Amino acid sequence: MSGALFGDELLERPRRELAPGAVHVPGWLTLEQQAWIAERFREWSAGPVPPRAAAVRGHEMSVKTVCLGWHWQPYRYTREATDVNGARVLPLPDWLERVGRLAVAEAYGPSKTVRQYAPDTALVNYYDEDARMGMHQDKDEVSRAPVVSLSVGNSCLFRFGNSESRARPYEDLVLASGDLFVFGGPARLAFHGVMKTYPGTAPAGCGLETGRINITLRVTGLD
Ligand code: SIN
Ligand code: MN
Repeated sequence: MSGALFGDELLERPRRELAPGAVHVPGWLTLEQQAWIAERFREWSAGPVPPRAAAVRGHEMSVKTVCLGWHWQPYRYTREATDVNGARVLPLPDWLERVGRLAVAEAYGPSKTVRQYAPDTALVNYYDEDARMGMHQDKDEVSRAPVVSLSVGNSCLFRFGNSESRARPYEDLVLASGDLFVFGGPARLAFHGVMKTYPGTAPAGCGLETGRINITLRVTGLD
């Protein structure tokens, strides 16, 4: 019992700053918090706008996305999901805005800028066992405030690169259930993607039996 309560698996995956502004914090969310997020994901999916695979340059993405606060579609944000069913997306819940602030404080340490971090959108992505996401930049936001990424469910192989192109230099790392990844400052426009997920790696108790959920919290800079 104490082995599970006080496991030492995080010794193998230390917190790390990959590049200035890009911070990986393994195991940041507790299992209870992960399960809460998985439950909320089911509610959001049953909400006014169902998860959908966005079409990027004529190709449907393998990931399905449900948005909160603002609806993302290639390559803009709207309040209504005009490319799905026209309905207005659910608001971003307060608790998720707070999680975003805590995450940025965890990554960069507390400061006035961090206390003022107020994400206004969440892109909630669901990866089934075959889904992946090609290398891209998050640049549809007017604001260059940090992006906060939270993962629940199966682990994935995440590629984090440079701001110039999809090519090397980049680094591959595993994002597991409960991990936090923040990219801001000089890393804000770095190309990144998900090369694959690892079926069967979701920990018991994380609330998701198959697939992977990733939430990115962002500041759109829109009003
Ligand atoms: C994204 O780039 O928007 C998602 C990244 C991830 O799924 O980890
Ligand atoms: Mn992205």
